[in-house]
Amino acid sequence: MTYARFIGIGSYLPEKVLTNKDLEKVMNTSDEWIRERTGIMRRHIAADNETTSSLGLEAAKRAMSNADIEPEDIDLIIVATTTPDQVFPSTACLIQHQLKIKGCAAFDVQAVCSGFVYALDIANRFLQTGGATTALVIGAETLSRILNWEDRSTAVLFGDGAGCVILKASDEPGILSSHSHADGQYADLLQVRSGISAGYNEAKPAEAFIEMNGNAVFKRAVATFDKIARETVADIDGGLGGIDWFIPHQANMRIIKAAARKLEMPMERVIATVDMHANTSSASIPLALDYALQEGKIKQGDILLLAAFGGGFTWGSTLVKY
Ligand code: ACO
Repeated sequence: MTYARFIGIGSYLPEKVLTNKDLEKVMNTSDEWIRERTGIMRRHIAADNETTSSLGLEAAKRAMSNADIEPEDIDLIIVATTTPDQVFPSTACLIQHQLKIKGCAAFDVQAVCSGFVYALDIANRFLQTGGATTALVIGAETLSRILNWEDRSTAVLFGDGAGCVILKASDEPGILSSHSHADGQYADLLQVRSGISAGYNEAKPAEAFIEMNGNAVFKRAVATFDKIARETVADIDGGLGGIDWFIPHQANMRIIKAAARKLEMPMERVIATVDMHANTSSASIPLALDYALQEGKIKQGDILLLAAFGGGFTWGSTLVKY
């Protein structure tokens, strides 16, 4: 059997840091409210000359250096993003060109906060069926560009960043199972209404930014994390007890803690970076993964459960032997 193994990980955060205290100066909010309701303390914000592709490119370079591979080794590039640089070409093609890679498939995946696990699921299938041998899977976002800075209920929640995992086809276990799901009936709970085809409503400029029914999203997110985690571990020995590290999408510390409680997963085995990064959508899981590796938490052979939930609604998971 062919597995997709993680052979290199890298991430990149823009230099500019915006703390809760900084936000207090520009909107009617407080550090205390943000920390208590979300666990977020700060977030990184892309500079004017940075884009999703420039963030993703830096993360990809770091992951390639970590894996000790060259651009010519890559034969698949998937970028998960909700904030592509432009309508087209895809962000994946822009990064491919910057890396001087030619010919391999390169495309974007749009599944909002679940984008990275969707992208891993797709790459895993490519590698398992012989369609590729070495894949760059990137989650990259400049969510600050779709935030309404006059809406305190959403502006405080998000940040920018990018992470990248390199997958290589191997006989040794890597990804053990992966799942992707969606249910479009909840679109109005979390969305950006404006679009290319739907157009931009000049009378309602706020529709160009993230709108969310926070309470409804919260409840759905907790219930879904529980469902997806149980579905994913159903095939492994020890079930949830066999998981060394739970690495959920980083939306809100209260969602992460509630999901961990439902799964009876002690917080010592949960990776949480939402305090430092806020919600970076499809970049949040690879950013958390890279952080945990740099902190020396994750060891070779550990079993990792990555799980995400986001707009759409979409949800998905990856179970991987590191
Ligand atoms: N600062 C101060 N007060 C605020 C702020 C703010 N930034 N934002 C909202 N408030 C106020 C509200 O106006 C409201 O005031 P009122 O009682 O006078 O009307 C009060 O705080 C409570 O508002 P709620 O929306 O009920 O607050 P809640 O406890 O639900 O927390 C939150 C809001 C943090 C958004 C929560 O619902 C949540 O975390 N939802 C999950 C959403 C999420 O993380 N989405 C990310 C995208 S989806 C994903 O990635 C999974």
